[in-house]
Amino acid sequence: MAIEKTFLMVKPDGVERQVVGDIVDRFERRGFIMKGAKLMVIPKELAEKHYAEHAERPFFGELVDFITSGPVFAMVWEGENVIKLARTMMGATKPEESNPGTIRGDYATTVSHNIIHGSDSLASAEREIGLFFGEDLV
Ligand code: TYD
Ligand code: MG
Repeated sequence: MAIEKTFLMVKPDGVERQVVGDIVDRFERRGFIMKGAKLMVIPKELAEKHYAEHAERPFFGELVDFITSGPVFAMVWEGENVIKLARTMMGATKPEESNPGTIRGDYATTVSHNIIHGSDSLASAEREIGLFFGEDLV
């Protein structure tokens, strides 16, 4: 298994609830390496690009409004199989399927306010790291 990078982001609800430290700690303890991080308010155009795959979904407008509603903590993490393992650590998208012990399973009860984003594939990771941190970090 190759060393990969992934894009993770604590969403505005996670920053507001002050769980950035816990989330960083989980990935550090697992053995992953943080390669970049910044607290930022996402401009609307960037939010629309980031979530472009969902542009036709009924929740798209609310998703963009939410993700731009306050600061997020955007991060790049590196390690073996980090894309898939980070998704497992995040927990499932549907609250009824996100197990206790996962980030979403510990902190979230609604699908829309679910604390954390993580890239779902190598192509998504490269695209999202490029969007938020530039091609040098990809
Ligand atoms: P998605 O990419 O399906 O989930 P994930 O974040 O686990 O990759 O959806 C992106 C975000 O859109 C999701 O984190 C929360 C929001 N969303 C809704 O608000 N309602 C929904 O029904 C779905 C599927 C997602
Ligand atoms: Mg997704």
